[in-house]
Amino acid sequence: MDRIRIKGGRQLKGEIVVSGSKNACLPLMVASLLTDQPLTLKNVPRLADITTMIRLLQQHGVEISATPGENGHSHGTTLTLKAGKIASTTAPYDIVRKMRASVLVLGALLAREGEARVSLPGGCAIGARPVDLHIAGLKAMGAEIDIDRGYIVAKAPEGLKGARYTFPKVSVGATENLIMAAALAKGTTVLDNAAREPEVTDLAECLSKMGVSISGIGTETLTIGGMERLTGTTHTVIPDRIETGTYAMAIAMTAGDVELVGGRLDLVEAAAQSLRAAGVVLKKTNRGIHVGRANGLHGVDVMTEPYPGFPTDLQAQMMALMTRAEGASMITETIFESRFMHVPELARMGANVTVHHESALVRGVPKLRGAEVMATDLRASVSLAIAGLAAEGETTLHRVYHLDRGYERLEEKLAACGAEIERLKG
Ligand code: UD1
Repeated sequence: MDRIRIKGGRQLKGEIVVSGSKNACLPLMVASLLTDQPLTLKNVPRLADITTMIRLLQQHGVEISATPGENGHSHGTTLTLKAGKIASTTAPYDIVRKMRASVLVLGALLAREGEARVSLPGGCAIGARPVDLHIAGLKAMGAEIDIDRGYIVAKAPEGLKGARYTFPKVSVGATENLIMAAALAKGTTVLDNAAREPEVTDLAECLSKMGVSISGIGTETLTIGGMERLTGTTHTVIPDRIETGTYAMAIAMTAGDVELVGGRLDLVEAAAQSLRAAGVVLKKTNRGIHVGRANGLHGVDVMTEPYPGFPTDLQAQMMALMTRAEGASMITETIFESRFMHVPELARMGANVTVHHESALVRGVPKLRGAEVMATDLRASVSLAIAGLAAEGETTLHRVYHLDRGYERLEEKLAACGAEIERLKG
């Protein structure tokens, strides 16, 4: 298994190109199941999760071709996906267990083929993460759903019917699943308390181009007019706001000075507000966002919330930054239970963090020390890399495969800005 070794203490300087958003790209790829015509996606990041989705869709019968990105400074790939015929309506355990987002094929397959069998994703490192809302929403649209030997077995022989469904809790994945199901349902579907995350908006905009009428995009009520057939289209994936926020925190951690090329400040407003309160300077530039630090770093309180609130996917990184702030910071996680696995690892590097239920009290320390640390999930692993950048001495990050699921060429991007970071193979 690969490891990443970091020698701390270098300031990050220069520029980092922000990749296309993984979490926007995954549902967009699934949208290819809704039409027999080609869907072309630009600015696709090269990541393990994208490869897993390619494998899943290929076994459903989608033909996929990839060409390198055309944009001079972007490394984004262009993917063309064509689901001429659906070869299988089963999403097998072997693939789904690797990536929870596989469950997104449920709505699209059911809407197009009238049936789908999708392995239950099961538990994961950051909490139970059930799929009850995905199922309840599809049932409201007329689907019959059973759980059989670890699989969600869904049927709608007469097709899905438009319905009104109110999410009891905001869910990004369930909103995406239901939007795709509604796109090929008979009649109009109204989704209340829908997720407003930019990734949901990106999917809705792509589906509009494919012929679906969707109103209320970007709000908590989406009205979707189902169509009998959808067309193909070409769509550019939005920049990754979590990658943007992650690098902003890494730059702040090293008191660096970097332009995040292609980053969009409007997508990271909540995180930018917290960072500014902590003493970080973020400015919109012609090409993206400039991140620097005026002076010292101060502790700020942060609470994760659905968009437009502070994203749970930046909580671990913010905590890493706060370990070196002056004063204390209360970090409260409201989206996922057990999303503090980075705490004991940060503590091994000298951080002072006390967890009490869903809150963590971080007391800033004058220095962190490099250590051998273990990644437990995607965002936790990058928080340890951020800590390593500012730690005295050497940090070795184990289980880098978590990181590779969601960060494209992390070590290359950081090394180009002066970090002493390398990947140790095997
Ligand atoms: C997506 C993101 C993930 C991010 C999360 C929250 C992708 C591929 N992943 O995950 O990176 O951390 O949004 O912003 O886009 N829940 C239920 N029942 C359900 C579905 C969800 O109780 O049927 C709960 C979850 O356990 C969690 C909360 O709702 O507590 C939010 O989860 P959700 O928004 O669905 O997350 P994902 O779509 O899985």
